[in-house]
Amino acid sequence: MYMNLGADDVKRQVPRPSELRPLLQFEKPQLRSRDRRLARALTIEDLRRIAKRRTPRAAFDYTDGAADGEVSLARARRAFAEIEFNPRVLRDVSRVDTGRAVLGKRSALPFGIAPTGFTRMMQAEGEIAGATAASAAGIPFCLSTMGTTSIENVAATSPDGRNWFQLYLWKDRDASMALVDRAAAAGYDTLLVTVDVPVAGARLRDVRNGMTIPPTLTPRTIVDAVPRPAWWLNFLTTEPLAFASLSRWPGSVADLLDSMFDPTVTWDDLRWIRERWQGSLVIKGIQSVPDAVRAAELGVDAVLLSNHGGRQLDRAPVPFHLLPRVVNEVDCEVWLDTGIMSGQDVLAAIALGATFTLVGRAYLYGLMAGGRAGVDRSIDILRGQIERTMRLLGVTSLDELTPDHVSVLGSHPRN
Ligand SMILES: Cc1cc2nc3c(=O)[nH]c(=O)nc-3n(C[C@H](O)[C@H](O)[C@H](O)COP(=O)(O)O)c2cc1C
Repeated sequence: MYMNLGADDVKRQVPRPSELRPLLQFEKPQLRSRDRRLARALTIEDLRRIAKRRTPRAAFDYTDGAADGEVSLARARRAFAEIEFNPRVLRDVSRVDTGRAVLGKRSALPFGIAPTGFTRMMQAEGEIAGATAASAAGIPFCLSTMGTTSIENVAATSPDGRNWFQLYLWKDRDASMALVDRAAAAGYDTLLVTVDVPVAGARLRDVRNGMTIPPTLTPRTIVDAVPRPAWWLNFLTTEPLAFASLSRWPGSVADLLDSMFDPTVTWDDLRWIRERWQGSLVIKGIQSVPDAVRAAELGVDAVLLSNHGGRQLDRAPVPFHLLPRVVNEVDCEVWLDTGIMSGQDVLAAIALGATFTLVGRAYLYGLMAGGRAGVDRSIDILRGQIERTMRLLGVTSLDELTPDHVSVLGSHPRN
């Protein structure tokens, strides 16, 4: 028999507010547009897009760009995408521990904040935002020789943080070592010596943008400033840009870097630093197995496989590809940076044997998107991705991750 189930046969009632409420999924009103903006960013790439809108072109490009054709950076990022995770199932993953022992102390997450120069130019809160966000998250923060906040100021503003110092060996060795002594006096216990900088890489975007440090107001930068008033307001109303370690520089970025970097630095200099520095020593910018072995023999506590985020030698080895071979050959900790844009990237590196990782741009995009709150958001995004991916892989601690969890697709040598 035909039954009419049309609208006339449906029994209707007036909805009660208590029944409607759970169906209405409006966002809680958020007080600040910045918080709303950041909450909508679900990935580091989302933060990058916000950063690009809000930051003057020269400062954004200085951060986002790399050397020459930017091949090193693109390949490093692609290498992380070109893996397959091999999960295990039916394990209790209700609790996961993302902590990692690095140089004898626990970091709440398997990454720290990489040293970056000129950070207050990207957003006025600069290194203080990075150091305090890192401290709140229980992860290390590394201040650059080219930082825009002093060694002492970072230590005083983030006294509970684990602060590290990155050293460029200048032509003036005594001035470099004076910085190291200041870092030791301020309580920094780890020194990262960057060694992939005999000269500055060719950062073509900076040259094309006519970038200067600090940014200067020219007709072009003024036009660029109109849609980005917040950045300029912050820039013009906060302490003038100064460096952690050097005085104002009137020329171009390339000139500044070239005047600092010393092409005569050799292994003897590293030995000299090892003898003088009592704390942990990390060599940053290792890009081959023999150099990793040599550094380990010289007594460093960790080798950091890095091509400087693609900002120095273009078409450099991809650190992620180098990782398994170096892990096989050295006894000290092996760290990795360059190209990390997600928590999954971090876990892939840990699975292939890295003790620890550093993030550069992933932190700077957050900083440019929203100052300290933006850095918090970057760390939250990475943390969320790490926790979820650990669960999906069927592991509850980072030590359970092994090379078997990752297949590297493609044809480059793995072992
Ligand atoms: C804007 C910027 C500035 C940097 N400045 C320094 C620096 O002063 N000293 C240094 O050792 N490395 C510096 N680096 C390299 C980082 O420490 C790190 O090796 C790199 O950012 C890692 O790649 P990622 O950005 O893909 O994470 C800089 C990187 C960027 C993006």
